[in-house]
Amino acid sequence: MCGIVAYVGGREAADVVVDGLRRLEYRGYDSSGVVVAPGAGAALQVVKRAGKLSVLQDALRTVRLGGALALGHTRWATHGRPSDANAHPHLSEDGRLAVIHNGIIENYLPLREALQRDGHVFGSETDSEVLVHLIEQAYAGDLAAAVRSALRQVRGAYALVAAHAGHEEVVAARATSPLVVGVGEGEQWLASDVPALLPYTRRVAYLCDGDVAVMTCAGVRVTDMDGRELERPVETVDWDAEAAEKGGYAHFMLKEIEEQPSVLQQTLGGRFAPDGRDVLLDLSLDPSAIDRIVITAAGTAAYAGTVGAALLETLARVPAGVEIASELRYRDPVLDERTLVIAVSQSGETIDTLEAVREARRRGVPTLAVLNVKGSSLAREVDDVLYVHAGPEIGVASTKAYLAMLAAFALLAVRFGRARGRLDDERAEALLRGLRGLPQALEAALATRSRARELAERLATARSALFLGRGINVASAFEGALKLKEISYVHAEAYAMGEMKHGPIALIEPSVPVVAIATTSARYDKTIANLQEVRARDGVVIAIASEGDGTIAAHADEVIEVPRVDELLSPLVNVVPLQLLAYETALRLGRDVDQPRNLAKSVTVE
Ligand code: M6R
Repeated sequence: MCGIVAYVGGREAADVVVDGLRRLEYRGYDSSGVVVAPGAGAALQVVKRAGKLSVLQDALRTVRLGGALALGHTRWATHGRPSDANAHPHLSEDGRLAVIHNGIIENYLPLREALQRDGHVFGSETDSEVLVHLIEQAYAGDLAAAVRSALRQVRGAYALVAAHAGHEEVVAARATSPLVVGVGEGEQWLASDVPALLPYTRRVAYLCDGDVAVMTCAGVRVTDMDGRELERPVETVDWDAEAAEKGGYAHFMLKEIEEQPSVLQQTLGGRFAPDGRDVLLDLSLDPSAIDRIVITAAGTAAYAGTVGAALLETLARVPAGVEIASELRYRDPVLDERTLVIAVSQSGETIDTLEAVREARRRGVPTLAVLNVKGSSLAREVDDVLYVHAGPEIGVASTKAYLAMLAAFALLAVRFGRARGRLDDERAEALLRGLRGLPQALEAALATRSRARELAERLATARSALFLGRGINVASAFEGALKLKEISYVHAEAYAMGEMKHGPIALIEPSVPVVAIATTSARYDKTIANLQEVRARDGVVIAIASEGDGTIAAHADEVIEVPRVDELLSPLVNVVPLQLLAYETALRLGRDVDQPRNLAKSVTVE
């Protein structure tokens, strides 16, 4: 949520920063801006614009911003609507100090009032601008000291970068919102997320909460809030720059959907035991010491958690349920040391999920993250991490990370089932064989794109859509509806299929199509009965069905066929046509698929 990029070194700094912002635009696209320090004490030069990065890039065609040090920002608006004035960077009145801030300064109102009484004039409606005035007020020749002094007065979450015309350095600080240093030779970077750094360096160091860093061409010095030196280890990231590029695809989302067969191989890679009846996960937790599992997450990750809970209950016979992270933390939940809290997240930066984990830790509960991004905040806050290895996910609508989370949960459930003696050899072997065959099944599921394109018209012209599923595919229905809403803005609701007759059936009419997950299952007959109920009321059914199903055509208006797989693994295959339906519908409606309105990729504010 909001992207920061800063650079100091021998390259044209503005170009590096704008390039980095392009790679972070998924974090917010309400406005963007860049500031350059021309050097030799000259005043800072700033250009900032409301709207997407392309608006800033157009503006930069007519202005030359030369200099070796630059800061840039792409914003997801919280305080103050998207406008040029509210765009970052914010400058001091003398134009010599620039600050960019991600997060929320909770006590900004009293601070602003006090600063105004002292004669400070504000140029924006943002909470962030108080930081510029506080730093300006505290500045007496040492920028890092002024930043520390300002931060002692604020309450809230921040990642900030500051530059002053009188210094060839960037000062950065972090509390809650992420910042990662890119380490180079004679040049250094700072960014909210690794993709901004990938074309330049894969050597990174993650800042921690409470860190204040001073970045010059020569390197980055990290201290705590009292100025005491700290060591932050330099790591090498295993993502390559191409993985974060569109690579000829029209959209990141489509690229990420199509990558899913290979993503699955990465998730599963090296995790099967040689006898084919267990999995190898490098976890310290003891499955037999757990009596209950609470899975916590937001959005798509929570739907992955719902599938995960079903897998864990079925295969390991351990009670498992999902609690939306933003609720769990405020609910005074019943958790004890034999409850395992599993946090699920692509980014590892979702504040609701992080806070839910912190709540669990405060209660002494063991925690595990099912996580994509290495080095993220979540990775540092849990006892164990099960990485899903989906690679960088740039599309705001999560696709491949969801699939990788499902696969990771399947592995975890098998491990728990084996360790707890609840999963026999034969079933374990069959499931793992099924998992091995899934990349091929996903390739076949991807072939449903042309069918999704044909059916997109029905959804694009719909008043609303209902997504229905049963059992382990209830979550698939929720995920399908969320994908459609997010990127096409067509209203959709999801229900457990059996619930339809308890209310939502009132919505059924031809302009409210029903997307039904109707693949082979133990309750297939009930599914067919529910589809009959829809059609008896002039409803239109689009059924996701198993290949070779001879009966479904009689109960649906449209059928999308997917390969037949074990019911417990079917959510991994069924999600593909749902993603493609959403994608094709959004295309037909001319939506901005990778940057849907009002959204940002990782939500680091409450
Ligand atoms: O990074 P996380 O997995 O923690 O993000 C959680 C949700 O914000 C995320 O899944 C969101 O719902 C996506 N836009 C879904 O496509």
